[in-house]
Amino acid sequence: MGRSSKDKRDIYYRLAKEEGWRARSAFKLLQLDEEFQLFEGVRRAVDLCAAPGSWSQVLSRKLKGGAGEGPESVKIVAVDLQAMAPLPGVVQIQGDITKVSTAQEIIQHFEGQPADLVVCDGAPDVTGLHDIDEYIQAQLLLAALNITTHVLNKGGTFVAKIFRGKDVTLLYSQLRIFFPDVTCAKPRSSRNSSIEAFVVCRGYCPPEGYVPNMSNPLLDHCYDVDFNQLEGPNRVIVPFLACGDLSAYDSDQTYPLQLAPGKEYSYVPPTQPPICPPYQEACFLKRNNLLAKEPGPAPLEEADPAPTYGSAPEPQGCPPEAAVENVLASLSVSP
Ligand SMILES: C[S@@+](CC[C@H](N)C(=O)[O-])C[C@H]1O[C@@H](n2cnc3c(N)ncnc32)[C@H](O)[C@@H]1O
Repeated sequence: MGRSSKDKRDIYYRLAKEEGWRARSAFKLLQLDEEFQLFEGVRRAVDLCAAPGSWSQVLSRKLKGGAGEGPESVKIVAVDLQAMAPLPGVVQIQGDITKVSTAQEIIQHFEGQPADLVVCDGAPDVTGLHDIDEYIQAQLLLAALNITTHVLNKGGTFVAKIFRGKDVTLLYSQLRIFFPDVTCAKPRSSRNSSIEAFVVCRGYCPPEGYVPNMSNPLLDHCYDVDFNQLEGPNRVIVPFLACGDLSAYDSDQTYPLQLAPGKEYSYVPPTQPPICPPYQEACFLKRNNLLAKEPGPAPLEEADPAPTYGSAPEPQGCPPEAAVENVLASLSVSP
């Protein structure tokens, strides 16, 4: 498969590289902003689950105006489990947002000066078992909401990825405890084939007397109640909005490489290759033919050359000797 093949199949992946975004997700936040004007009057923002950093890039460009300099009063804090390449003007924290210690670290950065906007594009590694994936995603959203209750200014906005599964009404009702205005939105750049959408929660207003607490049982509703079965005024219907300009590219379509007559296509590499990704060791083993093999009969013909990992961006950041030593250690081989 040529390296331009993904550029054909995924227009937003291609545009992200051409426009200098670290990930195609940047377009989701930009399209949500087109609909909801998320950045109006925002000086301080938190980007939860931020790696590789395209949402932080969007925040930086919108709040600081590009070069990451901008006014002193603008503050952007980005958090992720994974290490993230530095971004000018963005404070980075490596940690798990479901851990109290990470939440405390974020809160420290905002003491006395609450944030105006919290965004969370968090996604677990999906297992393919939909119930489990939806549950874990919901827990990630609740962890983000919990952190939000500590740092968000009254009237502020919270935007988070949600899986629109059968329990979406439960999450909606939990969010409505804190926000009078909650909409579930689907940007054009989010594939129709995916159950992913984003909740846009505006006008933060916690219940009277509510004291933020990282282990607050208020958020841990029981999953046995089927909110979809409620009748009359008790029935909850989650507002849904398809957003983004209707003339924008369709994320489920394949486009020709030449997008407009006279506009020649040229391949652009990813803006920021992953640093120390978990697959780095596997790539090394594969390239050096160090993967364990099943003993079997000798091949009758010459084997095909090992496939290359051409489409996986070349990782950066780990010294090659360290990777070799890790590999050799895991194989119990001395260098
Ligand atoms: C879809 S990516 C985010 C993309 C990002 N918004 C961007 O534009 O570059 C989802 C991220 O969620 C992070 N994540 C998942 N669970 C997490 C957790 N418990 N704490 C912190 N980050 C988490 C993953 O490490 C991953 O980087």
